[in-house]
Amino acid sequence: MIEPTPFVIRRANQHDLPSLARMASELARQHERYDNRRFSLRPMEEAFTNFYRNELDDDNSALFVAESDGELAGYIFVRIEPDSIVEWFLATGWVHDLFVAKPWRKSHVGSELLRIGIEHLRRIGSPGVMLAVAAQNATARRFFKKNGFRVTMHEMRLDFDATPSLDADPPMAPVNPSSIEPTAKPAWTGSAPPLSP
Ligand SMILES: CC(C)(COP(=O)(O)OP(=O)(O)OC[C@H]1O[C@@H](n2cnc3c(N)ncnc32)[C@H](O)[C@@H]1OP(=O)(O)O)[C@@H](O)C(=O)NCCC(=O)NCCS
Repeated sequence: MIEPTPFVIRRANQHDLPSLARMASELARQHERYDNRRFSLRPMEEAFTNFYRNELDDDNSALFVAESDGELAGYIFVRIEPDSIVEWFLATGWVHDLFVAKPWRKSHVGSELLRIGIEHLRRIGSPGVMLAVAAQNATARRFFKKNGFRVTMHEMRLDFDATPSLDADPPMAPVNPSSIEPTAKPAWTGSAPPLSP
């Protein structure tokens, strides 16, 4: 039996920035292929490098990398997000990115990175962990469920110009027009009622 190459997980540092930016770009391209309207911002590697450089200095953020034989096999980016009155949650840790390079997938690199990211968020006082997964990313949805996460929200979107995205969902079954209920008539159709004196 071939033994899997061992890997270590450690905090990321400045030297990791080029590899982190490459992996982040791949993750962004993966999402663009799912739905290029929802995932429409395409930052280049330089933008990711600058972004992660700042995150390395932020106490609310943590970047961990999995390393094997001097190569990065994957990374996780977690950050405490503040209370949100529009999202109705108190400050909570988020897993923003989790990525494992293709040759390393299904070797438990992802679950180890996730475990360490979650432990870090717990240690710095987060009441739980949130994350968002693309609707098309069935592998990741299965993976996170297996790791204890439950679904809390369904994000939705309407596009004003409806060119299909690269990997659009399959079309829904056609609707039989006779099965559609007539639209209810609006209760008021006249001109504006006189203003009371
Ligand atoms: C999702 C992802 C992080 C999982 O990482 P991974 O290192 O492959 O996962 P692990 O090896 O730790 O897998 C843990 C479990 O999930 C299962 N699993 C992982 N990938 C799977 C797949 N493609 N199909 C079926 N099962 C899978 C493994 O069998 C394993 O099960 P086990 O614990 O019973 O052995 C990885 O596939 C990835 O980086 N994907 C691309 C980026 C992405 O989509 N990120 C998530 C959204 S931000």
